[in-house]
Amino acid sequence: MRIHKIASIPADGIGPEVIDAGLQVLDALEQRDGGFALEVEHFDWGSDYYKVHGEMMPADGLDRIKGKDAIFFGAVGAPDVPDHVTLWGLRLPICQGFDQYANVRPTRILPGIPSPLAGKGPGNLDWVIIRENSEGEYSGAGGRVHRGLPEEVATEVSIFTRTGVTRIMRFAFAMAQSRTRKLLTVVTKSNAQRHGMVMWDEIAEDVAADFPDVTWDKMLVDAMTVRMTLHPESLDTIVATNLHADVLSDLAGALAGSIGVAPTANIDPERRNPSMFEPIHGSAFDITGKGIANPVATFWTACQMLEHLGEASAADSLMKAIEGVCAAGISTPDVGGSATTQEVTEAVVEAIRAANE
Ligand code: IPM
Ligand code: MG
Repeated sequence: MRIHKIASIPADGIGPEVIDAGLQVLDALEQRDGGFALEVEHFDWGSDYYKVHGEMMPADGLDRIKGKDAIFFGAVGAPDVPDHVTLWGLRLPICQGFDQYANVRPTRILPGIPSPLAGKGPGNLDWVIIRENSEGEYSGAGGRVHRGLPEEVATEVSIFTRTGVTRIMRFAFAMAQSRTRKLLTVVTKSNAQRHGMVMWDEIAEDVAADFPDVTWDKMLVDAMTVRMTLHPESLDTIVATNLHADVLSDLAGALAGSIGVAPTANIDPERRNPSMFEPIHGSAFDITGKGIANPVATFWTACQMLEHLGEASAADSLMKAIEGVCAAGISTPDVGGSATTQEVTEAVVEAIRAANE
């Protein structure tokens, strides 16, 4: 029996609802497969924990989960705790502390999910966005002086290192190489940002030499939004900085039908530390507790987690079950359906069981 140790951190808002749904589906896969088991340990970190303890997770939080094989994460963000506190108290310390430098965001139009792109459906949009996840605009470098005075100054400094850019570029070229079309688009803003972004372009040229079978091109981030919207078929693998890819991946989620189906994986490609798998959508306080959160993003990131754990066959079964349920129109209101989170979950569990017969 292959045992995988999982830390579950549902955290805030709809996080607990979708993680619960994800664990039900993973349980069905375990039973169907019979060859692996997930040992899940739950951690109650997040904004409620913060209100009691004054911190989002204990000081030795990373040590407690370092020995896990993966982290299954819900969402952070609460209406009564500042966003920068929740983010810098839990999610970013895990990403940065475990050097999960590759953020992988697959985007596709799933069957049955309406896209706002007129005339476009499954097959017209099939991308993987690779987001640099350890530095850039999210480095946390900067500060404020003369706070509150008219002469106050604030800086927010982007840090780009040759090591950081080279490793994400190699990861992106390798990802493009592993996909059928072997096509990579490198996104920057190297016309206006003339230091770090120009170094990105130079490093892309250098790394490309090691991947002669990958076709690649460059886009400025503003023009990229137009290409994604008007010519989605022209793109396959995309690599961009932490902030650029943050923005582009929300656009990608919307173009594919809903941010409610968009998954993400925060990967340490060298496997020195556990990687973290989460839906992109965030805590969504407007629908928390209503039982209508879309669990598809969490199911899809569970696929990414299974692939990372070496359970490719279970990952494949799960993706097929998700696609079947979406195609059958069993979906939550954000994608035009009327099903609840639990109804979608049960349909996916049922599809997994049925595939076994
Ligand atoms: C994402 C999210 C986060 C980010 C938020 C919650 C800080 O938007 O994962 O895309 O900007 O990284
Ligand atoms: Mg985002």
